Amino acid sequence: MAHTIVIFGASGDLTSRKLIPALYRLFLRDKLPADTHIVGVSRSKFSDDAWREQLATTTEKFTQKDFNAESWQEFAKQVHYVPGDIKDASDFDTLAERLNGIEGQRSADRVYYIATMPQLYETAAAHLGASGLADDSEAARRIVIEKPFGTDLATAKKLNTAIASVFREDQVYRIDHYLGKETVQNIMVLRFGNAIFEPLWNRNYIDHVQITVAEEVLVGRRGDYYDGSGVLRDMFQNHILQLMMVTAMECPSKFNADSVRDEKVKVLGAIRQLRGADFADCGIRGQYAGYRSEEGVDPNSETETFAALRLHVDNWRWNGVPFYLRSGKALSCRTTQIVIEFKEPPHMLFGGSTTPQANRLVIQIQPAEGIQVHFQSKVPDAEMKTRQSQLDFRFDSGGLALPDAYQRLLQDALQGDASLFARSDEVELAWAIIDPIIGAWRSPAAPPMNSYPVEGWGPSESADWMRKDGRNWFDVCPVIH
Ligand code: BG6
Repeated sequence: MAHTIVIFGASGDLTSRKLIPALYRLFLRDKLPADTHIVGVSRSKFSDDAWREQLATTTEKFTQKDFNAESWQEFAKQVHYVPGDIKDASDFDTLAERLNGIEGQRSADRVYYIATMPQLYETAAAHLGASGLADDSEAARRIVIEKPFGTDLATAKKLNTAIASVFREDQVYRIDHYLGKETVQNIMVLRFGNAIFEPLWNRNYIDHVQITVAEEVLVGRRGDYYDGSGVLRDMFQNHILQLMMVTAMECPSKFNADSVRDEKVKVLGAIRQLRGADFADCGIRGQYAGYRSEEGVDPNSETETFAALRLHVDNWRWNGVPFYLRSGKALSCRTTQIVIEFKEPPHMLFGGSTTPQANRLVIQIQPAEGIQVHFQSKVPDAEMKTRQSQLDFRFDSGGLALPDAYQRLLQDALQGDASLFARSDEVELAWAIIDPIIGAWRSPAAPPMNSYPVEGWGPSESADWMRKDGRNWFDVCPVIH
């Protein structure tokens, strides 16, 4: 079967920075199905050749040493451009004609990738429906929706309803690029492809879980968007809750879209609802020093650039095991890691240790990818003194380059595998968890906004808050390099 991927928002940043480089790399690795056409749509008036030329420059920049002019020429033959305005229904009729021309007599499975401003998602779906472009009686029709998927529960529901009036749920692919990361998928392999971890993966052995997504960058040119969003919408509702779901879910009976997502959704459903006084103590808010002078940011902004949250999963496996989640901009380094902190040994046989004796599993998602196990070993030639030692696993050992998340996600969308995309109930439940926190943190009862210096681990109150629970953040920049 032939394939066509239609990218709405073709002149945007995401298309040139991520989508086309990912498709080109799939092509280089023979992973782009044969007979695949890529059609860009946006308001700019490019010809096919002008768009190809522009993409050659940007793709070279973003794929660097993978780029070569000869293979680009081959790839570019499959690339087309159709000027069109999403708001204009008649442009969809023109697009339909052009697609029929490009595909010729063969019927082709189509993926419509909506990489536009979020305000246009609903219109795009509606016009695809009205023009007949969503009709899948002859071949598959799928729609890929970029993030953000709504800005709260009400808008996410509205968007789901609008899309559902045109596409069935199995045709809808909601992007969370964290799910496309190899190391996130590897969490499932670590847990469900091995016999030694799963027996320990519960309240009997685990004291708590920490999920940190630390970013070194400031808001930069995105001040305008970010100030209306804040870290809870930007990182928690999507990426961090995805990491939490994959860490906490039960083993699905099959690895397919429904089974995997059913298990993930159960985790969200089991997260304890916060009420009343919980909101003041469930987390810490912070804003980096200088944020209010960033371009596009309100000088009196009360938007968090850092947050830490403590959530509980009320089920048999996790009862009593807190999940500490945190993320922020302007921190010491870029690192995404999940720390599984085990309980202390029940009986301390050996004295003289200078470090805590609990075992730890550090799953490092990025930038370097790997896993580290912390365990006690004997200090040589020092009676029975112990010290903390490490076992390291590097994910790319063997010289295998890790693909960008978008490669995997585009490939799956073309092949019709939605396992690594968010389902409508997943997105809504995630908002139902984050919305009340945002609401409470915008109310007079909000916990104080703490300022923090650029290049640290967020406000000092975050460490104090953790210590009150008798625990410490694992503040280590990538443990594996
Ligand atoms: C995006 C957020 O979804 O994820 C950004 O909007 C953030 O603010 C980015 O920087 C982080 O993604 P990654 O893959 O670099 O960790």
